[in-house]
Amino acid sequence: MINPMDLTGKRILVTGASSGIGACTSRLLSQLGASLVLLDINENGLAHTLSQLAGEGHGSKVINLINTEQIEEVIKEIIQTYGTFDGFVHCAGIAPMRPFHMSKKEDVQKVLDINFYSFIEISRVLTKVRGGFRAGGSIVVMSSTASIHGKPTKIAYSASKAAIDAAIRCMTVELKSKKIRINSVMPSWVRTQMFTSYVEHYPDSAEIREINDKQYLGVSEPSEVANVIAFLLSDATKTITGTTILMDGGILQG
Ligand SMILES: NC(=O)c1ccc[n+]([C@@H]2O[C@H](COP(=O)([O-])OP(=O)(O)OC[C@H]3O[C@@H](n4cnc5c(N)ncnc54)[C@H](OP(=O)(O)O)[C@@H]3O)[C@@H](O)[C@H]2O)c1
Repeated sequence: MINPMDLTGKRILVTGASSGIGACTSRLLSQLGASLVLLDINENGLAHTLSQLAGEGHGSKVINLINTEQIEEVIKEIIQTYGTFDGFVHCAGIAPMRPFHMSKKEDVQKVLDINFYSFIEISRVLTKVRGGFRAGGSIVVMSSTASIHGKPTKIAYSASKAAIDAAIRCMTVELKSKKIRINSVMPSWVRTQMFTSYVEHYPDSAEIREINDKQYLGVSEPSEVANVIAFLLSDATKTITGTTILMDGGILQG
């Protein structure tokens, strides 16, 4: 049987792989035949995800992506150890809530560094180093409807996701000669720890009421996001680049 999302023989780097969307995506990509290198700050979580992967030849590395100055050396080491990559998926991210009037530079900078700048730096090194990234490879990064949907307390998070959506369009143009595709995935809420702890803490919030009222297709499951990521990494989407796939359960359509 033909599987248009077959990833056999592809080597893919995944950040945020220890939990949520990153862990779910890692499991799916391995089932589709990819060999993976997983990155995350959480050592135990990484080991757990690694133990759940199908196939062999996977690896992992603990890294705190806030230390952006260390990224170049770590990625170069990874390329030396594992070889050329065909794909990169950036799922690492944080989503702290902080009102505008309490948002100081260091608070905003932290979110931008982890969510946005680490993505730029990993992509930069992977695609610059000789033998780092295959021509025709694919990069996928997690955006969010926060990129285009104004909400209280989400200044830094929204800015980090809007930065991602803007940057991928420029990166695509600059990497044109290598035919490297770059796309982002823009869900509304996804049923991960990020969502369940929010529901626990703020069950009666305007945000939860809005989901119940307007997100008529429901909250996305991590597996659905993983499917979209795998689709964008696969040869089924050889001409999709510089775009953002919205998966909002209908919430933005009102
Ligand atoms: N869940 C949603 O509703 C939703 C909606 C739209 C977009 N997204 C986006 O999707 C992505 C994944 O979200 P998720 O729900 O799967 O969240 P998650 O379960 O919290 O996963 C994020 C991962 O990033 C890791 N991480 C955090 N800070 C890091 C750092 N400094 N260095 C390296 N790794 C770090 C986390 O490690 P620890 O577990 O140790 O912190 C975690 O494994 C994020 O970019 C998020 O913004 C999520």
